[in-house]
Amino acid sequence: MNVVTAPTVTYDVDRIRRDFPLLVGQEGESPTIYLDSAATSLKPACVIGAVREFYEAETANTGRGVHWLAENVTDRFEAARETIAGWINAQTREVVFVSNCTAAIRMVAEGREWPPCVLVGRSEHHSNDLPWRVRGTTVAVSVDECGAIDLDDMQRCLEAHRPALVAVTMISNALGTVQPVDAIIELAHQFGARVLVDASQAVAHRAIDVEAIGCDFLCFSGHKMCGPSGVGVLHGKENCLAELTDAGFGGGAVEEVHAEGFTAREVPWRLEPGTPNIEGVLGLAVASDYLDGVGMEAIERHVNELAADMVDRLSRLRKVSVHGPPAGQDRGAIVSFSVDGLESHAVARILSQRHRICVRSGYHCAQPLHESLGLPPTVRASLALYTTRHEVDRIVEAVEQLTAAL
Ligand code: ALA
Repeated sequence: MNVVTAPTVTYDVDRIRRDFPLLVGQEGESPTIYLDSAATSLKPACVIGAVREFYEAETANTGRGVHWLAENVTDRFEAARETIAGWINAQTREVVFVSNCTAAIRMVAEGREWPPCVLVGRSEHHSNDLPWRVRGTTVAVSVDECGAIDLDDMQRCLEAHRPALVAVTMISNALGTVQPVDAIIELAHQFGARVLVDASQAVAHRAIDVEAIGCDFLCFSGHKMCGPSGVGVLHGKENCLAELTDAGFGGGAVEEVHAEGFTAREVPWRLEPGTPNIEGVLGLAVASDYLDGVGMEAIERHVNELAADMVDRLSRLRKVSVHGPPAGQDRGAIVSFSVDGLESHAVARILSQRHRICVRSGYHCAQPLHESLGLPPTVRASLALYTTRHEVDRIVEAVEQLTAAL
């Protein structure tokens, strides 16, 4: 009997790089090495084209007019909602377009009361910490030395505080730690708490299936997944979105307004008052199609291999400490490290000025995480579908050169 095996598909990173205008023509002697994709990703030509096309040929408002341009853009805007819903395996009515992930979290935090308290992970980006803190009592669940949520502590916190909601990131933007989201959700639901998942650091590298995840809310920003800035997504189960009655009203969010009162539209439109970032939404749908075209599993494999290699090689350098999950453990396209005797911003500046390597330095908007682990501000290299092995070689060599002089 003949054994049929699946063909091996080679990941063609050179082909992918040709889709990104900023990378084209960068193969000379001193190319830009962009390792800051967690701060914001580069954009492929198809996304840039979709935004430009809206301005040049399709400008009109969505959900309002009956002229042909308005009807065209309304159809395309709602088709984008369907595309994004399909991309994360949600129902179309469960997708709310917002301006970014912070706005999505604020919409949930401010959209209703959350008695008696909210649990947040110690691993959270400030955006998934401060909106809860300013609304009331939060309790932080501790993390282990790699930044992973301590499930025993979470159980204790759930028993002691009976929170209404647990807010947790899927992948730490500071350390790359992949959180045990399945276990967190199962545990939280046993105690009747809703769960909000911040997927911003995951969406560009991992397929997201909200039904399989089982979260109540999930949010992400477009700019980290090759989409435009100023657009993001709040996914919520329909009953959870419907509970956000204080999330703001305005034009486009209401059916009728009379002197005596008004009738709100249904979700998700009720949660999108005012003219949205139409070009951003159209570009976001194109970005999700683009990532799908490359293949989410292939992207995940690619960034994981490169990150593992970078961790392994940086860990061997003297005076360099790599933080977060140890070599061999799953990490989300992030490699954070520090150099003994050199402050993180100094390392980032040297990498930029001498080697044209772009990395982020500091606390990465996750200062409580650093403080709880006793970590200094770090240098963070963040990878994406267009990162090459050569770029990994370059940063490792550059850090080695730097430490040789210390
Ligand atoms: N949240 C972004 C980052 O991690 C800005 O750099």
